[in-house]
Amino acid sequence: MDSKLESPVKEPQPLRNIVLVGFMGSGKSSIGRELNHSIGYQLIDTDHVIEEQAGKSIPKIFAQDGEDAFRDMETRLLEDLLLQQTSRRIISTGGGMVNKAENRSLLRKLGFVVWLKCSPEEIHQRTSKSNNRPLLQCADPMQTITKLLAVRSPQYEQTAHLEINTNDLNLGEISCGILESARYYFGTS
Ligand code: S3P
Repeated sequence: MDSKLESPVKEPQPLRNIVLVGFMGSGKSSIGRELNHSIGYQLIDTDHVIEEQAGKSIPKIFAQDGEDAFRDMETRLLEDLLLQQTSRRIISTGGGMVNKAENRSLLRKLGFVVWLKCSPEEIHQRTSKSNNRPLLQCADPMQTITKLLAVRSPQYEQTAHLEINTNDLNLGEISCGILESARYYFGTS
């Protein structure tokens, strides 16, 4: 048979999930909950799943096993989610999920990826009251935020299908914007 007549190999379709990426304190959990209420998709928070699987909190994982071990757990979880091939989920990810190129590719295969952008000042304000983020338990969190944002912003940008600046919008406005774009994306992909 003439190979030109064979049907072309199709790229696998991205799954019908909404994946939230963004820096610590950018509102992924709150927006994940808002989307869950609006459309009923199951909410999966990768930090929570990892804590459940490890049987300990993220600060404990960082302290006892180290950051690299945590990053491996993140990759394994994305691989598992992809293997499950399930759709209609909202996947809210930890802020460092985009660090590895491998993860960036997995995230895009998992669905429509939304980067929740936020200013360093807003991030600082939102994260300063909690002590459950090991990377910000340091003498100068603002400096760490600025440095990490410089490294990660291009990674979020590269991964996301949509960027939303969350500084001046309320949860309803953000979730409406996401749903409108996701509908278009799923309708055309
Ligand atoms: C991290 C962000 C955290 C959590 C861990 C590491 C990061 O999640 O995964 O503390 O590297 O930015 P949130 O973005 O939900 O705070």
